[in-house]
Amino acid sequence: MTSRKTSSRKANSSRKTNSRKSLWHTTESFKIVEPNFYQAVILLADYKEIFVSTGVGAGKTSLAPIWLSLKQLQFGGGNVIWIEPITRMLSTVAIPTYESFVKDTIFEGKWKSKKENVYKNKFGFVYFLTAENAEHIQGIPDVVAVVMDEAGQCSRKAYYYAKARLKRTNGYLLGLSNPYVNKDPWMYKEVYQDYLNGDPDILFLTYSSLENPAFNKEVYEKDKKKLSPEELDFLYHGKFVKPQGLVFDYPNDLIVDIDISTNELLKKFEEEHPGRNFIGMDFGFGDPTVMIVGRWSEGKLYLIDEYYRTGLAPSEHADAVARFVKRYNVGIIFYDPSGIKDRLEIDKILKEKGIRVTWKTANNDIQKGLRAVDTFFKERKMFISASMRHMLDEDNSYVYNSKGLPEDRNNHCEDARRYLVMGIIRLTDKRRFYRRPTKKEADNWLAEHFHGLFKKKKKDWISYL
Ligand SMILES: Nc1ncnc2c1ncn2[C@@H]1O[C@H](COP(=O)(O)OP(=O)(O)O)[C@@H](O)[C@H]1O
Ligand SMILES: [Mg+2]
Repeated sequence: MTSRKTSSRKANSSRKTNSRKSLWHTTESFKIVEPNFYQAVILLADYKEIFVSTGVGAGKTSLAPIWLSLKQLQFGGGNVIWIEPITRMLSTVAIPTYESFVKDTIFEGKWKSKKENVYKNKFGFVYFLTAENAEHIQGIPDVVAVVMDEAGQCSRKAYYYAKARLKRTNGYLLGLSNPYVNKDPWMYKEVYQDYLNGDPDILFLTYSSLENPAFNKEVYEKDKKKLSPEELDFLYHGKFVKPQGLVFDYPNDLIVDIDISTNELLKKFEEEHPGRNFIGMDFGFGDPTVMIVGRWSEGKLYLIDEYYRTGLAPSEHADAVARFVKRYNVGIIFYDPSGIKDRLEIDKILKEKGIRVTWKTANNDIQKGLRAVDTFFKERKMFISASMRHMLDEDNSYVYNSKGLPEDRNNHCEDARRYLVMGIIRLTDKRRFYRRPTKKEADNWLAEHFHGLFKKKKKDWISYL
């Protein structure tokens, strides 16, 4: 829309052909919004949290500035936040969409800081933020409303920080998204489930792209011939499609909140769960290198932290390994036996830093390992911190192929976890003390025994096992 004249002409002509091309249009003196049924519900419904899962181009983002402005009005003034999953989307999506709607309305204001993406109108501040820096959300004053665009691509952390900003004002949250399952464990596994369980504060709407009068139905008809029903559901109907054939399909309540964001909180958690921390590690270059930290406490394994980085040389992971070993006071890292070269390189740097840790090659038998991990889940012996986004993402896309074998992708956290579980089983398997060791084991045992004999003993961690 370039000027009022062209847009009103456009609006008039479009009314004649009955094919509206945009959510709102401008006349000589008004900005007129013509929502579809679902958009009207979103604008009017009085729920603390509204989540909307739709197909592409269903009219979500274009509704965001209208909803935010309405909330500012409804509260008689107040600050609001608009969150996008990545920084680039602020300048390409959020800001232009917002500016074009508020232009020539009572919501038009000025940039308070263009650099910080803070806008100000007579109702309050409008903060444009990205979920990439979720911590920044914490630094914002209280707000009356938050929009999370493409919420399913935003981190769970961003969602909780946003909610915290709304607490004091008793404000509102609107989450707009396509139904990503892989990238989206929290929205599907928490919000949607809460809604299904009857949480009175949450409305979860699902609607199809076809509900948007501006939607190009020809494209849909073409795709209908090409795509599977599941793909159509995802792309156009906004429906969550649970991946078929998941390798690990554990119940949601094994995903738990473990706040260890500060050293004090970590200490508190460790005191409440006496035990020992271990790391499982998988190496990759084209693939990610992953560390999974697990706390083994009284027969239960709490997966509490993850490291997940792609495209770095082994030496470039060394700082992170050092940080994890120190922070979690880790004695043993169980690692992928084929990654021996990487581990030697990393260990050399650790030694230079004066950090000692024992590296143990993990049992890499996939079938055995998968069974062991599955048993941990089935026996409710393993819990995953909800902050472990990569693991949760991968668990949601790690599937069996048509031959009944796990596909060799989306399995990096799973591999590291498998090494960790196999390692812990080996350590705790008391039976091995009763059987006669092979000659090699005996030699190693002797070597280990004498190696450690004259060292000052740290606290005897095996007693926790
Ligand atoms: N109720 C509506 N009537 C007519 N056009 C609409 C309506 N809602 C949205 N649109 C238009 O459809 C297009 C796609 O909307 P958008 O909000 O970007 O979709 P999404 O964010 O769901 O992908 C935009 O040009 C928008 O103005
Ligand atoms: Mg959008």
